Amino acid sequence: YLIDKGNHRHFMEKEVYEQPEVISHALGHYVDFASHTVKIETGAIDFANVSSLAISACGTAFLAGSVGKYWFERYARLPVEIDVASEFRYREMPLSPSQAALFISQSGETADTLASLRYCKDNGLKIGAVVNATESTIAREADAIFPILAGPEIGVASTKAFTCQLAVLASLAIGAGRARGTLDAADEKELVRHLTEMPRIMSQVLNLIQPQMESLARDLSKCKDVLYIGRGTSYPLAMEGALKLKEISYIHAEGYAAGELKHGPIALIDENMPVIVIAPHDRFFEKTVSNMQEVAARGGRIIFITDGKGAAASKLPTMATIVLPVVDEIISPMIFSLPIQLLAYHTAVFMGTDVDQPRNLAKSVTVE
Ligand code: G6P
Repeated sequence: YLIDKGNHRHFMEKEVYEQPEVISHALGHYVDFASHTVKIETGAIDFANVSSLAISACGTAFLAGSVGKYWFERYARLPVEIDVASEFRYREMPLSPSQAALFISQSGETADTLASLRYCKDNGLKIGAVVNATESTIAREADAIFPILAGPEIGVASTKAFTCQLAVLASLAIGAGRARGTLDAADEKELVRHLTEMPRIMSQVLNLIQPQMESLARDLSKCKDVLYIGRGTSYPLAMEGALKLKEISYIHAEGYAAGELKHGPIALIDENMPVIVIAPHDRFFEKTVSNMQEVAARGGRIIFITDGKGAAASKLPTMATIVLPVVDEIISPMIFSLPIQLLAYHTAVFMGTDVDQPRNLAKSVTVE
């Protein structure tokens, strides 16, 4: 990897556009593109026999883990306890050696994540590290290393590391499902086939949405607050969208579970606060649309990020509808990350912020 911006204005933009390539590289390490099977050396971690999984991480890595929780629980029937590392390390959580623990970190040096790892290690758990930096402290102290192979990420706001973390977690969840007998060979083939289609779909989406993201970003740059909502894996994605926007554009944003809207944030809704609804046409779609209806009824402006089926199914008026290809549920978080990243990126560019080095933030937080 050559560390320059190439034809891009910022590292962040370059890293967004690199995703099809790096995801393909990462997937190549975990799945077989020809036979559509997973090929994971889980080493010390015996997914077939662990009683549950504890996951801990910070920032964007925590949100990747939060998506992973849905996958491990759904595909491997493996209960997952996840928390931000700054809480996890002090919770005095009862743990047992029958559990395994996963730590997700781009840098592999985040102090709280490392402390959580050591807490689990002291309790006799086997440790897996999902890291970009394979020579890092977290990688060194783990029993099994799962590299995300994203290449150097320079922009402080994580983009390609996030989607590579997701690709690795999805592969691990499928592998765990096979090991635990909750997925059969046909399920595995089907899910892995979807994963292998991801790089191509990502390129297609990146080419497709760029102009629309730029024009929407112009509108967003005038807002003071933005709300992101979603259900299922789109819930952590909503939080990731809000995190990206606040990190680099300094616009206040919140990510919420769509079903929680009526328990608070709905009170904020007026014509000045756009609501970004992340809703692929999946099992949750109808429910999310009914939350969207509640927003519309209160004069809220909706930015609807959906797919072809979703766009056809909803007749609600929106400020903008972003239509992505229809994809399987297992890859939608990676595909739906793209508009979320570009929206934050272009908004920050309009605001004139220092996109790659946002104020007060560090790429790697090695102090508590
Ligand atoms: C910092 C970075 C974030 C990152 C988080 C966790 O806050 O600005 O982009 O998600 O740390 O970092 P890690 O290296 O552990 O993934």
